[in-house]
Amino acid sequence: MNGILYFSSTGNSLFIAKKEQQRFGGKIVYIPKYQGDGSEFEKLVLVTPIYSYGMPTHVHSLLSRLNKQRELIVIQNYGGMVGGADFLLYSYATKLGLNIKSVFVIKMPENFTLTFTVPKFYLKSVLKNCGKAIDKVLNQIETGTPHVPKKKKTKEAKYLKNKSNWHLIGQRFCTSQNCVQCQKCVSLCPVGNISLQDGKIVFGDKCVACLGCYHRCPNKAILYQNKKKKFRYVNPNVDESEIGRDL
Ligand SMILES: Cc1cc2nc3c(=O)[nH]c(=O)nc-3n(C[C@H](O)[C@H](O)[C@H](O)COP(=O)(O)O)c2cc1C
Repeated sequence: MNGILYFSSTGNSLFIAKKEQQRFGGKIVYIPKYQGDGSEFEKLVLVTPIYSYGMPTHVHSLLSRLNKQRELIVIQNYGGMVGGADFLLYSYATKLGLNIKSVFVIKMPENFTLTFTVPKFYLKSVLKNCGKAIDKVLNQIETGTPHVPKKKKTKEAKYLKNKSNWHLIGQRFCTSQNCVQCQKCVSLCPVGNISLQDGKIVFGDKCVACLGCYHRCPNKAILYQNKKKKFRYVNPNVDESEIGRDL
């Protein structure tokens, strides 16, 4: 059986992982809860968002421990600009000696929206078009032909700098009076960075900037820099309760 390893905070990567599973079968595994190295699977498909022209922290550390024999196919998804993230991941995996065959990129709705709102018409059009883009990638996977990203200039320095500052994002979060201490944020945070202390939600210094808490709070009660922005996003084509689960 194939392993479909995914990281997702707002459901785009889970949506793609489920399409992969519907088409080819396999077990969907949520990376932050996964301790293994992929050996129990025949082939590995990694589905991940692009973060700061690179990859989320959990994906970076998963790659460093993956089984080197297993064939690896990567599907990255992004909201606005790839910035060489496909080539960066491919080079990193190659340096680690992984058996990486292909890296694909798919445009999905943007979720790094702490300071702006995605217009509804644009969101609708990205959601409409991504279905075709996903099918195209799955067709390419079916042919078995490797899809190696062309050598390109990456924004590696920017990625590493941003990554080193991700922990600060959590420290810029606070809760508004709409917070009812339901603790959904506490349970969905992939690094246990949020806790309830003396009746108040407290953000620690381990944030990996996934923004799951911000987008998925049922009362939009998590604010960034104390600003009351309304826009929150969760992929409307997934069951939100499945984000973070193995399927
Ligand atoms: C911390 C962070 C950094 C991001 N960096 C980029 C980026 O460099 N380029 C881009 O196009 N999208 C970027 N995005 C947007 C996500 O890649 C995109 O919305 C993705 O589809 C989210 O996947 P998910 O719903 O599975 O979490 C970023 C998102 C976050 C949270």
